[in-house]
Amino acid sequence: MADDKNKKSPVMDSEIFYPSKEIIENAHIKDYESMYKYSIENREKFWAEQADNLEWFKKWDKVFDASEAPFYKWYTGGKINIVHNAIDRHLKSWRRNKIAIIWEGEPGDVRTLSYHALDREVSRFANILKSMGVVKGNIVTVYMPQIPELAIAMLACAKIGAAHSVVYGGFSIEALAERIKDANSRILITADGGFRRGKATDLKGIANDAMKRSPTIEVCITVKRTGKEVYMESGRDFWFHELMSLPIANPKCDTEVMDAEDLLFLLYSSGTTGQPKGLVHTHGGYAVFTSTTHKFVFDIKDEDRWWCAADPGWITGHSYIVYGPLINGSTIIMYEGAPNHPYPNRWWQMIEKYGINILYTSPTAIRGLMRFGEAWPNRHDLSSLRLLGSVGEPINPEAWRWYHRVIGKGKCPIMDTWWQTETGGFMITPFPVTPLKPGSVTKPFFGNEVAVVDDDGNEMPAGEEGKLVIKSPWPGMARTIYGDSERFREVYWDDYKKQGWYKTGDSARIDEDGYVWVIGRIDDVIKVSGYRLGTAEIESALVSHEQVTEAAAITLPHEIKGNAIHVYVILRDGVTGNPDLVEALKKHVRNEIGPIAVPETVTFADKLPKTRSGKIMRRVLKARALGQDEGDLSTLEE
Ligand code: WTA
Repeated sequence: MADDKNKKSPVMDSEIFYPSKEIIENAHIKDYESMYKYSIENREKFWAEQADNLEWFKKWDKVFDASEAPFYKWYTGGKINIVHNAIDRHLKSWRRNKIAIIWEGEPGDVRTLSYHALDREVSRFANILKSMGVVKGNIVTVYMPQIPELAIAMLACAKIGAAHSVVYGGFSIEALAERIKDANSRILITADGGFRRGKATDLKGIANDAMKRSPTIEVCITVKRTGKEVYMESGRDFWFHELMSLPIANPKCDTEVMDAEDLLFLLYSSGTTGQPKGLVHTHGGYAVFTSTTHKFVFDIKDEDRWWCAADPGWITGHSYIVYGPLINGSTIIMYEGAPNHPYPNRWWQMIEKYGINILYTSPTAIRGLMRFGEAWPNRHDLSSLRLLGSVGEPINPEAWRWYHRVIGKGKCPIMDTWWQTETGGFMITPFPVTPLKPGSVTKPFFGNEVAVVDDDGNEMPAGEEGKLVIKSPWPGMARTIYGDSERFREVYWDDYKKQGWYKTGDSARIDEDGYVWVIGRIDDVIKVSGYRLGTAEIESALVSHEQVTEAAAITLPHEIKGNAIHVYVILRDGVTGNPDLVEALKKHVRNEIGPIAVPETVTFADKLPKTRSGKIMRRVLKARALGQDEGDLSTLEE
């Protein structure tokens, strides 16, 4: 169920922000409406034109292939490698000497890599992977902090045709073990740890425990970041820096020729039921989609310094730290640590120091920094900023206005981009020229038609809440769920099978001006601080604790995080709840999934509201917690 605070009708037309003349004059897209119309009427032609901006080893035979719908294909017959476009082709121009990555560690250490240097690092590591027996089609699991080696590892895999499966560094033992097992990875790339709020995290310790649970790993390569002592098993564990100093780490490595539809990566994402699913993205369509959306929405220019302050372990980082920006030849900023460490001006300091032009982050981060007041950003020169961005959850108008006024000084349009792991890139988003309404993600991207409908697919009247669907395929879409194509069909395509629409799992409204207002998830996927989790994962982590027999997880509104997790547990017979057990359960969830999944409150219960078929009615728990009407209880078991 959508959160109560979002249920109130949002400010619809009362407040509109128009872009300045300067923004419009310099924009790649000056007339959204006509380009949109063109892209809808000539969808395939539009996507062929965008694909022409990339370098292909061989052009595609067909732009779009629906013969196995809903397993759509793009650019079939085309030969490409995303790394050829993200790195190799830039080496032929002046961009060879352009900075590709400026990275700053939390302790303040800095590294910069030109495209030339990035190519050397990626090639050297690619040669090491090859020497370890990694071949085209293998899936390599990557579990790292936010350090340049994370991007290097991803790119090295893709360069030689192996797929990567990056597991967010904030996940813990069980989450990592499950993902390794599902992908059947032989190789794990990790680090001893990273720095977060002044402390060193223990990634290698977690990786070691995960490897005990998922015995497929034969080789584990560890980057030394923190220097903390870690356990290394001989025959299995290798230090990254030691391998990189071997003659085999040659800085020349051919980029593998891939089919457009070959697997680029898996990224596990939480769904409604069971364990996270590995969404499959491919070399061709994903390269076209991420680079096109990045260039048009954020008006990317060669002189820009682009900062997507997400973690590469999530789709935002894959698409808009690594692939989209590098394909566009951008200079990207990466920062390892927390936004408020050592002080709440860390980000503003970064913007001033590096002259950053575009900042793309989440509403949670904005709300978190807003809490410390205006004095912190006001101490810094933020005049280099031209555009701002938001992603991951609905942004409340207060946070939007603060971001616009205090950080953007009233002159930087905010691109509130709606998309999902499944979509690969932006689907509903403003462009710099779009008049903005705080809290609305505005209009669909080119080639994309969306609707808000009821269960039968009838469009809702303007301003009324319904289910958000996408009406036609796009190049960046996930191709399937790894190893479970039935589930892919069932989760996304079965509800509107007749119409052939994609179900997003979100509810939304569309106002009279055609502006989209996203309300939130309507399934058991939850967004906490913009991170995506499933109630099922949290519940199964709780039930894996020996004292617990049943659990239910819900979210309730939270001022900073957007949503916070609250759980209800039934204990084993004879066990009584107490504050120590609450702490033990929180710790258990932290160990199994990670800090982002730790519940705010743990309530011990004798019974959980269930339907007669035994399904937990989380809606009822939520309504009770909020003191609201419990709604239709006719299916509730006595
Ligand atoms: C939510 C993150 C409102 C939405 C890129 C979606 C948003 C889910 C926005 C996907 C936004 C993402 N406004 N809600 N601008 N962007 N969402 O897969 O509920 O981690 O379905 O991808 O995030 O989360 P995911």
